[in-house]
Parts: sequence; structure tokens; C-alpha cells
Amino acid sequence: MIKKIIMIIIIIIVCFLYKIKNTLTSYLSFYFNKYLLKDKLKYPKHVAFIMDGNGRWATEKNMNRTHGHLMGSVNLLSIIYCCFLNGSDYLTFYAFSEENWKRPKKETDYIFEIIYKKLKFMSKLKEDMSFKIMIQGRRDRIPNKLLKLINLIEKNTQPNNKTIIIALDYSGRSEILHACKQLLKNNLEPTINNFTNYLYVANVPDPDLIIRTSGEKRMSDFLTWQHSYSELYFTDVKWPDFTVQELEKAIINYNTRQRRYGDIK
Ligand code: FPP
Repeated sequence: MIKKIIMIIIIIIVCFLYKIKNTLTSYLSFYFNKYLLKDKLKYPKHVAFIMDGNGRWATEKNMNRTHGHLMGSVNLLSIIYCCFLNGSDYLTFYAFSEENWKRPKKETDYIFEIIYKKLKFMSKLKEDMSFKIMIQGRRDRIPNKLLKLINLIEKNTQPNNKTIIIALDYSGRSEILHACKQLLKNNLEPTINNFTNYLYVANVPDPDLIIRTSGEKRMSDFLTWQHSYSELYFTDVKWPDFTVQELEKAIINYNTRQRRYGDIK
């Protein structure tokens, strides 16, 4: 017990030293759940995020929309640690939709640059901090520099257990068409099993919980096939303000849901 208390104190000091308040909160949330709630708060195996509201967050503060994307990328690691430490195995982030190409080039270039820098940083994390990173989406339009990094990271992080999926140049409908075309090409029966094998990312369980920020209550072509039985959580908080505390509210709400999958209970 004394060892654990010392460990918590060291983590608090280190986090304050490095001013990483959110990382500290994710560790505290882990210990709170483990020792005070005795692991009662069940984190879903797979949580997916529609990170919405970056642009509006920035505009409200008289800043350029790109600043909203930058601030939206700051909370990512604390959200990731909080979910993984508390038992989730898969996280999916909707980073760029096929529709997002309609935005000014300056903004799309900036989003890809943030994703590049974030991935580069994540790929350098050491052993116990590292995770498998996968991309879900079309690859033919991603800027070359980013695509090269993605290919390298997907190969190098393959052996890790916890998985982060980044939906990039993604559309759920396009993914369904892609799988259909593959079934036809390979002359396969259109069964659910065969079909799921040809989604952009195979062997990943469907999301248990999908969180969308910024008050919009729609799916926007996200995981169109996979979200059939997902629990949905919508919050008015915009993505740059979506902290570990906000995540915990979503998880508490998820824990009140009864998942029946059409059965009676
Ligand atoms: C939606 O907000 C957000 C995006 C289109 C981009 C989000 C991308 C990041 C935060 C980078 C993530 C990086 C990794 C590695 C996963 P919006 O611009 O649609 O907001 P608005 O609805 O207020 O305009």
C-alpha cells in the first residue's frame, strides 16, 4: 500500500513538473476507479470518437479555425491513456472524412500536418506507453509524407496490444462499397463474416460506445456498418474542451445503459 501511495505522489509531482494536468487527471481517474470504485466503472472495450467542434471553438474565441484543430489534438493522449489504463482495448478517432476535402486547402493541409506531428510523437513513445496504430480509410489521396509515416508506423507498432484506429479520408458508405467490390472480385458469398473481413480494418470488434462532441446528434457516415449496436453519447462540449473529466461523464452514462442486442433481460 505504501509503495502505491509513493507511486501516486511521484506521478503527481512529475505531472506538475511537466505541467501535464490532463495526463495527471487520467492517472488519478485510473486510481480512483481501481481503488475507490473497485473497478465498478466499466470502460467499453472499444470507444470511438467523433471529434467535432474544433472550428466553432476557435471562431468563438476570435481565433483561426486551425487553432481549434491544434487545441483539439492536445487532449488526445490523456483521453487515450485514460481509456487504456481503465481497460479499453480499441479506440477509434474520426480525424478526417471524405467530405472534409470540401474545406479550404489551407485547413486540410493544416489538419494533415497536425496528424503527422501527433503520429510521429506517438510512434516514439516507449514500451509500456506504446500502442498499435492503424488507419481506416482511403489511402490514395493522403499527402505522401504522411502516408510514408503511416506505412512505417503500422508496420512497427504491429506487435503492440492496445489499438488506436484513425479514420482518415474515411466514409462509412465508401467502406461498405469497398467491401462489396472485394467480395465480388473474389467471388465470395455475401455473408456477414466474409463482408467484415473486407472492411478497411478487419478483426476489430464493433465500437461499444461512440462519443460525439459539440452538440450535433448525427453519425456523419462514421462506422456506418460497425455502429449497428453501438451506444451513442452526445455532449455539447466542443472537442478541444473534451477533457478526461468529460470522458468520465460519458463512461458513467454508458454504465447506466442496458445492452440487450434484441434479447429480453
Ligand atoms: C472536426 O471539427 C474536426 C476535424 C475535421 C479534424 C480533427 C483532427 C484532429 C483534432 C487531429 C487528430 C489527430 C490524430 C492523430 C487523431 P470541425 O472543424 O468540423 O468543427 P466545426 O464543426 O466547429 O467546424
